[in-house]
Amino acid sequence: MAQDKGAGSLAKFCSSGRCSLVLLLGVLVLAAVIVVVTLTGSSLRVPVVYVSPSRNVSRDWWKKSIVYQIYPRSFQDSDGDGVGDIKGIIQRLDHLVYLHVGIIWISPFYVSPMKDFGYDVSNYTDVDPLFGNLTDFEELVTRAHTKGIKVIVDFVPNHTSDRHSWFQLSRQGVDTHKDYYIWDKGVRLENGTFVPPNNWIASFGGPAWSWDDTRQAFYYHAYLPEQPDLNIRSPAVQKELKDVLRFWLNKEVDGFRIDAVVKLLEARNTSISNEPLYTGDTVNPYFRLKHTGITMNNEDIGDVLKDWRNLLDEYENKDGKYRLMIAEAYSQNASDYAVVNMYYDWGADIPFNSNLATITRACVSRCIRDRVEKYLNSMPRGRQPNFVLGSHDVSRVATRMGSRHASALNMLLLTLPGTPTTYYGEEIGMSDIDSNLFEMQDPRGRRLGRVNIVLFSRDPERSPMQWSSAWKGDFSQSMNTWLPVNRDFLTHNVKMQKESSTMTTIQSYRRLAEVRQRRAFYNGTFQFSVTTDTILSYVRAVRGEKYLIAINFGFDESLADFSGKPVDSNSGKVVAFTEDTQYEYDMDVDIRRLSLPWGQGVVVRVQ
Ligand code: NOJ
Ligand code: MG
Repeated sequence: MAQDKGAGSLAKFCSSGRCSLVLLLGVLVLAAVIVVVTLTGSSLRVPVVYVSPSRNVSRDWWKKSIVYQIYPRSFQDSDGDGVGDIKGIIQRLDHLVYLHVGIIWISPFYVSPMKDFGYDVSNYTDVDPLFGNLTDFEELVTRAHTKGIKVIVDFVPNHTSDRHSWFQLSRQGVDTHKDYYIWDKGVRLENGTFVPPNNWIASFGGPAWSWDDTRQAFYYHAYLPEQPDLNIRSPAVQKELKDVLRFWLNKEVDGFRIDAVVKLLEARNTSISNEPLYTGDTVNPYFRLKHTGITMNNEDIGDVLKDWRNLLDEYENKDGKYRLMIAEAYSQNASDYAVVNMYYDWGADIPFNSNLATITRACVSRCIRDRVEKYLNSMPRGRQPNFVLGSHDVSRVATRMGSRHASALNMLLLTLPGTPTTYYGEEIGMSDIDSNLFEMQDPRGRRLGRVNIVLFSRDPERSPMQWSSAWKGDFSQSMNTWLPVNRDFLTHNVKMQKESSTMTTIQSYRRLAEVRQRRAFYNGTFQFSVTTDTILSYVRAVRGEKYLIAINFGFDESLADFSGKPVDSNSGKVVAFTEDTQYEYDMDVDIRRLSLPWGQGVVVRVQ
């Protein structure tokens, strides 16, 4: 009935002569809708505009700063024993002021037998004599704070050294400590011997279970046999670790970088083996097993981290100073950002994003763009992204990408959204040392790298900082430094680059560090611009201020027109540039014909 009525009124309406006008209007509206939908659809293919989350000034100091990683053995030796130390760091604090670095993260300097160069701690609450003493550390913190630099220390909760008193007590089965580590009788064979309970292997090679004669059981170690894993599920261990955090918080540190966080907990059931995983050409046997959920990124890690976050927040509640938590998070499948992003919910401010720390010459503009884009798109609401080019665990970026590209990569790092981390030496474009020229130190290299040293030894990226062309690069007065100083120190060093009258890697770094304190960089939008096989470019902007960053990753000079969207301008002024360009500060440039020599980059203010 109702339909009939409707049809009837339509017929009446049409017969009144207004029908064709309405139809015409309808067609027009439909066409407009189609145009809008098509445009929105195509704008999805245009890069997403990444908008930085809003800020809370007093808690967000770490969102505006650069994190600078100091590997203390290699930064500055003050006492002539060939190994860097805490006093050495104090002597070099002005270098960090020069670079506009706001945060230093210092790799372990705690008491250690140095089987893994400090990542095997035998006393968490003291300084190894090699590096100095607690008074030196206190002085470092005070002096750094006076210069406006925050201090982050490494926290190594996954494992101790086998020399730690906790392990000694535990292997003897002393009641108070017997559950401090992960012990397992294993499986008894017919001949009376025991084998490990499962196939878990150590990431530095060999089985992850070692037999202890005293305890007559296997203990689990994700790394070296000299690095037994703590049993984090034990309430007593949890208390010990929180006491360690408190100890350093009471020494005024501004936060922690948590080591090996992905391996903090394993599956309770040790009869579960890791399944084999096809990983193409992976050479490290560790990654030929599937670890996720069992021996890596176990879901119970969250509760432990949240507890530590609460502890940091307790300190903030007392004195109003926010404490930073950096997590050495990663997933077995590098593009699985969701796994790493879980660490945000678990209390980490910076779950390290290492997707640029693994790029090689095979990954330039489009590939870098793809990684940056996927990562930013994965960012949970309101969270701060972060980027890293290198560390004490991977080949230096200048070696992976070519030293002529080193400066442009710093430009990339310092102009992307989020908090950047610089590994000491990147500011002068330091390269790896040649692993054939010295005796290998790194235990990972010694265990896994006999065939493929370059891939497994981490010595090459840990060579001493190159301060000047003086003896041993001014790193040490010793005849023998623990690792050799790179042979290129005569031409590649801080002093020469600082004093040069033409642009150098360090000068470009410093300028970028200064420029990134403008709001467009630390809190602006981010949008990709022209991308070709060799050129990567993007725009950082806030209302009234817009910058184009253009980098040529190729091996020939490039010339391109950047004037279209999102730049929307034909001209601009140069704000920063890498060393081998023809640019100068404040130079007027034509955005329609912007040229870049190979491996170089420029930042232009276009509005
Ligand atoms: C990660 C550290 O960065 C690395 O250097 C160390 O060997 C392992 N964790 C074990 O602590
Ligand atoms: Mg020394």
